[in-house]
Amino acid sequence: MKRPILLVGKGGQVGSELAGLLPRLGEVVALGRAELDLAKPEEIREVIRRVQPELIVNAAAYTAVDQAEKEPSLAQAINSDAPEIMAMEGKKIGASLVHYSTDYVFDGTKNAPYLEDDPPNPLSVYGRTKLAGEQAIRSSGVSHLIFRTAWVYAAQGRNFLRTVLRLATQLDELRIVRDQYGAPTRNVEIAAATIAALAKITERSAGGDGFADLGGTYHKTAAGVTTWCDFAVAILQEASTTPASSSWLTSALGGLPLRARRVTPITTEEYPTPARRPAYSVLSNAKLAQVFGIELPDWRSQLHCAFSRTS
Ligand SMILES: NC(=O)c1ccc[n+]([C@@H]2O[C@H](COP(=O)([O-])OP(=O)(O)OC[C@H]3O[C@@H](n4cnc5c(N)ncnc54)[C@H](OP(=O)(O)O)[C@@H]3O)[C@@H](O)[C@H]2O)c1
Repeated sequence: MKRPILLVGKGGQVGSELAGLLPRLGEVVALGRAELDLAKPEEIREVIRRVQPELIVNAAAYTAVDQAEKEPSLAQAINSDAPEIMAMEGKKIGASLVHYSTDYVFDGTKNAPYLEDDPPNPLSVYGRTKLAGEQAIRSSGVSHLIFRTAWVYAAQGRNFLRTVLRLATQLDELRIVRDQYGAPTRNVEIAAATIAALAKITERSAGGDGFADLGGTYHKTAAGVTTWCDFAVAILQEASTTPASSSWLTSALGGLPLRARRVTPITTEEYPTPARRPAYSVLSNAKLAQVFGIELPDWRSQLHCAFSRTS
């Protein structure tokens, strides 16, 4: 790329992986919240005008699904207004935009994997604001890729994997919801698939306009389907069979032994949360496979890889 890539949200689960991989494609200006607060529209405009990126990659979002019910204006500012500004500013300077969205744009009543053009019907503030962000990008006319992903976790940070490991050192029994279906997707796979898609677009751009040919909205999640409860069971299985010498696991467990021996399935009704979540938010990844030839591994092998890390 002739102009820099602007990465926004470099400190998040997906953003931190992208920060390591994007330099393969060109010069990267990577910003976290300290350098760019997305709640401040003027800052977004100023940064884009100054950096003059060829590509903007927005990995930042307001992802606290339950907290968003109490802070709808802030969620709207980060998840909808900020990407709209990125899209409009990007369009003005001929930049393209990569953005991430969520399975929570759907209501979960379909009972078969959702396709990209299935009608959205978010149940929560988070889902509604993420959907509004997608729509703003599409109507801006900017060249874009929107990747809807789901149930994101990482070896570091705050996520379901880390929460289960922490609770497993404190409790004998974990009680986890077993009537929500989805595909837990590792940050590493999301970032790697993004780079692969961008490489394909760059290749296509040599003989035309890669974004015009391949841009649009794609689902990008792990293959397969599970429930939060079965995901927790798999996490404990991995934790109990991973060698004690794994420094990553030792640190995730806070140096404490695994105590939980049982995961008891419960219903969503038994675990009320401020935000409603879709009961079934499995996304079909067929379009990503067909257009880009990209297929993410199934959720179980992604989890195994997360435990195979050495540090
Ligand atoms: N997490 C999931 O389960 C999930 C599921 C489906 C889709 N997605 C989507 O996938 C994408 C990546 O998610 P993720 O899991 O990597 O998210 P994440 O780990 O929660 O990271 C989000 C990043 O956004 C930053 N951010 C939040 N408010 C900001 C603000 N006002 N100004 C600047 N930066 C701000 C955060 O900064 P701080 O670290 O300073 O807070 C953080 O670095 C998002 O679009 C998300 O909606 C996520």
